[in-house]
Amino acid sequence: MLFTDQAVQCTENIDCWSFDVLSANRVANGQILRHVTTDLLNRYGLIHKFKIQTAVLENFMIQMESGYNTYKNPYHNSIHAADVTQTTHYMLFQAGLANWLTDMEVFAMLFAAVIHDYKHTGTTNNYHVMSRSDIALIYNDRSVLENHHLSETFRLLKDQNLNILQNLSRDEYRDFRSLVIEMVLGTDMTSHFNHLKIMKKLLAHQEFSVDKAKGMALVLHCCDISHPSKEWRVHYHWTKLLLEEFFQQGDKEKELGLPFSPLCDRNTTPVAESQIGFINFIVSPSMEVLGTFLDKVQLALTRDIGPGEGSLSAEHEEKTAPNPRIRSIQASGKGIKSVSFDLGMILESTIKQNLL
Ligand code: CMP
Ligand code: MG
Ligand code: ZN
Repeated sequence: MLFTDQAVQCTENIDCWSFDVLSANRVANGQILRHVTTDLLNRYGLIHKFKIQTAVLENFMIQMESGYNTYKNPYHNSIHAADVTQTTHYMLFQAGLANWLTDMEVFAMLFAAVIHDYKHTGTTNNYHVMSRSDIALIYNDRSVLENHHLSETFRLLKDQNLNILQNLSRDEYRDFRSLVIEMVLGTDMTSHFNHLKIMKKLLAHQEFSVDKAKGMALVLHCCDISHPSKEWRVHYHWTKLLLEEFFQQGDKEKELGLPFSPLCDRNTTPVAESQIGFINFIVSPSMEVLGTFLDKVQLALTRDIGPGEGSLSAEHEEKTAPNPRIRSIQASGKGIKSVSFDLGMILESTIKQNLL
């Protein structure tokens, strides 16, 4: 699984913002999630560090892919999980976030991205609540799907043949689990505005005072809604798939005599307008906050490392600060280079191009 030609080929552009997960999935014969995950865990040195047995990882990934594909959802399937995982890697690697995190935290971020929509039913939280589904009953209508993704994943890990966390110490496991829970619960769109408001407030402080778990949750949430900031072709494809999933839910709602959930009525939903609204009110402000957050992380890291020798300007120091973790990924990886740029600006400008 680790070293086949197919695995190497389908993850070739994994470091790029323009990584086309849909094409990569075709090369991977529908198994892009396992290839992206294995490649990344390997390259960040996490398989070695946390003594993950290859067979156990393989079993776990088979279960993940099959759980993601249970309901044959157009959008919420293992390709979406691979997309969010690769985008999270981009933030860790190209935006330098990995330097701010411990190995365990990097592992938790990638793991949370992999599992964040596991066993998604292809219907929204609103549908679960309104249809009084079993899982809405279990989770008392609160973040129904997000609780379900987490609970089903951690249930899998009770089987030692699937437990890729079996060699974490008791303390590591507790911290890991708590981070993963916070990140995945943070993908519930209901908490979007509140979380963004809190984060903006924290980022306005002179001192960088963002709690790691909150920062990691912001990053995962942004990666989860990042497709409008990708190339038009990719974004267009994802949007079509998501709307088809919403419309299938609308068909069920009609059958059950329930009111249509937002964007779910295939006869009256204004697709283009809804997308402009989603981009302007949700994605764009999130990416702006993410850009500021990542800039501040870099600045804080530079300060921690301390001023270099000589009389470099603050700006120059910032650009040339050592990146120990990124250097080690380069050494163990494919000789890729990390780039330094204003991520917020790039995301914003792609989003704007997509809107034109
Ligand atoms: P999920 O992936 O569970 O979490 C993020 C949510 O954002 C996603 O489900 C959708 O409900 C919503 N979302 C993502 N992309 C769009 C889009 N283009 N238009 C409307 N909603 C979206
Ligand atoms: Mg989700
Ligand atoms: Zn998602």
